[in-house]
Amino acid sequence: MKKKRVLTGDRPTGLLHLGHFIGSLHNRVKSQSTHESFFVIADLHTLTTRHTKDHVRKLKEVIHNVVLDYLAAGIDPDLSIIFVQSSVPGISELNTLLGMLVSAPRLERIPSLKEMAKAEGLDTMPFGLLGYPVLMAADILLPRADLVPVGADNQGNVELARELARRFNHLYGEVFPIPEIEMEATLIGTDGQTKMSKSLNNAIFLSDSAAVVEEKVMGMYTDPNRVKADIPGKVEGNPVFIYHDQFNGDLEEVLDLKDRYRQGKVGDVEVKRKLVRVVNDFLEPIRQRREDYARQPDITMDILSAGARRMQDESQETLTLVREAMGFQNYQVSMIQEEPIQQQIKAIGGLAFL
Ligand code: TRP
Repeated sequence: MKKKRVLTGDRPTGLLHLGHFIGSLHNRVKSQSTHESFFVIADLHTLTTRHTKDHVRKLKEVIHNVVLDYLAAGIDPDLSIIFVQSSVPGISELNTLLGMLVSAPRLERIPSLKEMAKAEGLDTMPFGLLGYPVLMAADILLPRADLVPVGADNQGNVELARELARRFNHLYGEVFPIPEIEMEATLIGTDGQTKMSKSLNNAIFLSDSAAVVEEKVMGMYTDPNRVKADIPGKVEGNPVFIYHDQFNGDLEEVLDLKDRYRQGKVGDVEVKRKLVRVVNDFLEPIRQRREDYARQPDITMDILSAGARRMQDESQETLTLVREAMGFQNYQVSMIQEEPIQQQIKAIGGLAFL
């Protein structure tokens, strides 16, 4: 049986953290052998809120680090296809075509877009930002993905992708599978805010050193009402225990700590010291893999150019189906087939090109 296709991805905005691992990377690693996996590094999407030359210049380094974080987390470049969005012109072509199938008010109703504009301090909505979900639909539909794992804030976007796939199929003929949404978990931040995020400054990065992890864990938010170690504490919703549950494989230790915490018989410091050990044990092999890969200077570039090549084939296949379904005349092909040889040479840019 044909493997199902998964597509998901990230905007290159910085280093990846434990929240990315728990929510997404972990599942990507697990499913890469059972599914055909595509991971888009959505650089064009970052331009929807930041389009300056300075921003674009910094993308190269950020993208390099995102790929290293993927590899460090266990994504295997021989099993998974990793590509940069802007290296696949087919995505932009599909974006243009899909944009015709949705109204502006439909896009204006997607809550995450208004929030993004507000968070960035934009007082009017850029056309590109309004089109964020359409571009995302193009990412998903170009490789004709079956499954799209995303966090809560991207759910509305994938719903639009499903609508666009259905509308396209209905108007022109069956080309796209309707991609299923898979909800990802979120990890609480070190400060107790619902979500770990770089911009909230409450993240432990996959590439943080042992010393930085220690500092961050020792500074974690716990039960604010517990001013002394002999006061009974609250375990539920307490980030320190949420992380123990998530990362500590020694269940007996976790139970014992929770028990004593509830009775006021263990201090925050001991709970946190143990968590430092647990998180560092968890991160050590990830750091190690990151270093091993980082020693190969061209590795991320090689992976991304292989990804771009592979996506060129996917583009060719899907866009041929799309153009045929829509009934476009293929002028490029008829030009090559019907014109005399001199014209053909001119059309492809002269003999020097060959
Ligand atoms: N919008 C996602 C984010 O919030 C990144 C992304 C771009 C994406 N294209 C995608 C996710 C396609 C899943 C599928 O960073």
